[in-house]
Amino acid sequence: MEYGKIDWNDIWKELMTNQQRLDKSGDKNGHWNKKENAERFWKRTQENSERTDSTLNELPLTSESRVLDIGSGPGRLAIPIARKVSHVTAVEPAAGMMEILKENTKQQGIDNISCVSKRWEDIDVENDLDAPYDVVIASFSLGMPDIKEAIRKMEQASSKYVYLYWFAGTTPWEEHSIALWPSLYGKNYVPGPKCDVLYNLLYNMGIYPDVHVFSMDYTNYFSSVDEAMDFYRDRYVIETQEQESILRDYLKGILVQENGQLVEKGNSTRVKISWEKK
Ligand SMILES: C[S@@+](CC[C@H](N)C(=O)[O-])C[C@H]1O[C@@H](n2cnc3c(N)ncnc32)[C@H](O)[C@@H]1O
Repeated sequence: MEYGKIDWNDIWKELMTNQQRLDKSGDKNGHWNKKENAERFWKRTQENSERTDSTLNELPLTSESRVLDIGSGPGRLAIPIARKVSHVTAVEPAAGMMEILKENTKQQGIDNISCVSKRWEDIDVENDLDAPYDVVIASFSLGMPDIKEAIRKMEQASSKYVYLYWFAGTTPWEEHSIALWPSLYGKNYVPGPKCDVLYNLLYNMGIYPDVHVFSMDYTNYFSSVDEAMDFYRDRYVIETQEQESILRDYLKGILVQENGQLVEKGNSTRVKISWEKK
């Protein structure tokens, strides 16, 4: 392969599509569409809030800032950012996540977040948003097959800064998929695209970003193996009795007892990739 001719967008697309398993309805976002999964995600982020505090301190926010949060989830960043700035637009396609975001903003009396229920790839920057934004953020939400076009649109929506957060190396949940896929589906799991692909793609687009590496602990608490099964059943698209027992045995092996609860523990390496628009 000739250096300079590698199509990083194609590599991203291939890796992104390979590792997705669709449920029977073909729903890619099935996991986050369910309110209980969104609620669990929200609780987990509130328990591990130190990283959110550091992220907030790193962002160039002022009381005048207008911020776009792409794939905001339940508002881990959008809500505390909204307290510091004049306006936040949250783009979030998953119904469960959006429901929790709206409940959270209502409960906390926040009135400067506007919500757009769409995938980023379906957004028309001029018609769906109130661009430009001083800061555009996409935090662990780059489930976008055409990442080049997605980034082009982020630049279109931004007047100054773009902040992407993504992964380096294999994540704890990918380790689980690597272990489970051969017995669940009779094939190997191909992990999703990481920050190396992203950096090369940006470089080819003429963007030379800052890259900051950090680690993030991951703890997922369950009251029983049955509760863990409920959570993982749709993540792994469990459809047969055999798959059900493979998953149950696996979970029994990885969950550890802690203060009367079962815990899945992990640590992942993450990256902040940011740049100022030219
Ligand atoms: C792991 S959560 C991260 C939520 C939040 N950004 C944070 O950092 O806490 C990923 C979120 O990205 C959203 N997402 C995934 N693909 C997306 C896409 N193509 N466009 C917009 N959002 C997307 C999911 O629905 C989910 O809410």
